[in-house]
Amino acid sequence: MVDTLNIDIRRTANSRIKEVDFANIPFGKVYADHMFVADYDGKQWTNLRIQPYEYLRLSPANSALHYGQSVFEGMKAYKNEEGEVLIFRPEANFQRLNKSAERMCIPTLPEDIFMSGLTELLKLDKDWVPSTPNTALYIRPFIFATDEYIGIRASETYKFIIFTCPVGSYYSEPVRVKIETKYSRAVEGGTGAAKAAGNYAASLFPARKAQQAGYHQLVWTDARSHQYIEESGTMNVMFLIGDTLITSPISDTILSGITRNSVLTLAREWGYKIEERKVSVKEVIEAIENGTLKEAFGTGTAATIAHIALIGHEDKDYELPPIEGRELSNRVLKTLDAIKTGRAEDKWNWVYKL
Ligand code: COI
Repeated sequence: MVDTLNIDIRRTANSRIKEVDFANIPFGKVYADHMFVADYDGKQWTNLRIQPYEYLRLSPANSALHYGQSVFEGMKAYKNEEGEVLIFRPEANFQRLNKSAERMCIPTLPEDIFMSGLTELLKLDKDWVPSTPNTALYIRPFIFATDEYIGIRASETYKFIIFTCPVGSYYSEPVRVKIETKYSRAVEGGTGAAKAAGNYAASLFPARKAQQAGYHQLVWTDARSHQYIEESGTMNVMFLIGDTLITSPISDTILSGITRNSVLTLAREWGYKIEERKVSVKEVIEAIENGTLKEAFGTGTAATIAHIALIGHEDKDYELPPIEGRELSNRVLKTLDAIKTGRAEDKWNWVYKL
């Protein structure tokens, strides 16, 4: 449990919830009624408040807009059969947010501000947590610089905001990915392990080229040789080759995915052999060609478990085995869903009940 801090609450006079078609929720377009906000005044996090979700007033010289000093997180809340709200692994997101903040020279947040802000916000907007299959309340905490200053230095002031949005699936079908061998997402010593806004901006141009060629997403390779798989645009990636689950190790070029960690924990429990090691493009292509690649999938909060249907590499597309026969990823998807919605035992204490 968290002690509730002194949070000033201003409720909306006009809830928008009746306008929402919960049976057809797109990803990331509909926002719940309220948001939590805290300010960093140069010395401490202060002015904690919940207010209606609304536009922000920003200086055109806001340093985050110019130099990208901004980090974010993504997590999800669900409802159990009793209608209680369950948040999946919020402490892990809190820790990763602070890691990202440190890398980007942003002041870290105390845990009680993160958890009280989150829980008080969700108490107020609990009716926005959907309960139909494949839906969730997506939660977006983020911190960004607010100095009105265009010299290059870390900002002295910041805002921490949490807003939420009911969402359906991020990908509506198994994904087609292209292995990227020209552009890079992250380099050793860079910011790849941080959930930093600029990482996503830098990925857009190569991702657009892939999308124009008919793929949903890229699979990034290492910037030095482009021979080793790193992660995909919205998720970590895993391959079941023979009876071994293989995924790239966490490094300073790869995001430490919370869904990734949950999947590895489950697969280990079920007795799968697991290798967290460098995965070469060559071995993946060879495994597809010789029939030993049984499954490939992405793991992420927004994407959940995204089956990979096809991999493109150097002008050739490789179809992967049918989705129905994929024992591990289908089991992981089902089990994680059951844990998140309180229908299966939560052995690892992943679920935080509001
Ligand atoms: C998430 O999965 O929560 C992410 O932050 C990915 C984002 C690109 C939607």
